Amino acid sequence: MEVPLLDLKAQYQTIKKDIDEAVKRVIDSQYFILSGEVNAFEEEIAAYTGVPYAAGVASGTDALILALKAFGIGEGDRVITSPFTFFATAEAVSLVGAKPVFVDIDPKTYNIDPDKIEKLLRETSHELRDTIKAIIPVHLYGQCADMDRIMRIAEEHGLKIIEDCAQAIGASNNGRPAGSFGDAGAFSFFPSKNLGGFGDGGMVISNDKQAIERVKKLRVHGSVEQYIHEELGYNSRLDSLQAAILRVKLKKLNEWLDARRAIAAKYDEAFSPLGIITPKVADGNAHAYHQYTMAVEERDRFVQYLNDNGIAARVYYPVPLHLQPCYRDLGYSIGSFPISEELAEKVLSLPIYPELSEEKVNYIIQTVKDFIAKG
Ligand SMILES: Cc1ncc(COP(=O)(O)O)c(C=O)c1O
Repeated sequence: MEVPLLDLKAQYQTIKKDIDEAVKRVIDSQYFILSGEVNAFEEEIAAYTGVPYAAGVASGTDALILALKAFGIGEGDRVITSPFTFFATAEAVSLVGAKPVFVDIDPKTYNIDPDKIEKLLRETSHELRDTIKAIIPVHLYGQCADMDRIMRIAEEHGLKIIEDCAQAIGASNNGRPAGSFGDAGAFSFFPSKNLGGFGDGGMVISNDKQAIERVKKLRVHGSVEQYIHEELGYNSRLDSLQAAILRVKLKKLNEWLDARRAIAAKYDEAFSPLGIITPKVADGNAHAYHQYTMAVEERDRFVQYLNDNGIAARVYYPVPLHLQPCYRDLGYSIGSFPISEELAEKVLSLPIYPELSEEKVNYIIQTVKDFIAKG
């Protein structure tokens, strides 16, 4: 049996009529840039997350960049984040001229560890600490980081919080949606995401009206009035076509989340008696299961076995960010963040997507059991 990592063709078939109509609507209008579709989608994401202001941008990476810029973070500043995430989280910090400061993750949840943030802030000299301006917690795999603790730390130290929600639309903690805790939330609509477009896309949300106005200015070359440029900006707009497609998909998102959660529950039930370790779902968290991840010994042999049996298991992420070649000058080395380093060698993610059939889920479970039994 062949089980892909996700099946976007199957998803498209379930909503083809509405998607085709939405695409046609945009083509008929011939309004491709920042049209009513983008405004409507921004309002719908604001309503979905309960955060009043939203700005559609060209990607999740740009959402992080423009959010950082909107809060004045740039040259000479430092931003705390996790080394165990997709590269774009730290890349955005570097691209605005700031420096990422990594803090290791909690070995139970794989999200940034608030105790270690506190330790870093305690042990950093006053001079350096004054340059730390923000924290980017990443809601990895679709589970909220410990936002209560992180928000308290931020308040105490006067730091901005930009939530990296790229993997976490629909996740919540004690009923509060991902992206609604911090100063801003940054979302990605990359096609493989839980809410994925037919190309790149992203969104910044915030309770701060001025910050979103700044993002909206930055996404059109720093301009509010046409051809008058108040500052240097970007060309970073969400396409009308993407917005129209994403509006159709947003209506299905909660149903799709339920389907992901049901599959995760089946995996949990099957794997916990086998002693397989998965990230702990922290109290109060509703996980969005962008990924279903486990940590295993002999991970590479395990992935190969699954692949050989037609199951497209993948590793997110094999190299922690402090060990990336481009970050050599930050001064970290092997051993700087042992939990991230260990998990980078142990994690693998199994296929999880709403259209994954029961038959395929059972096949994956059986294949995992076979591997464990063979030893
Ligand atoms: C955690 C995280 N941050 C940022 C991004 C960047 O998003 P995009 O690919 O839309 O630029 C991604 C996704 O690719 C991600 O997984």
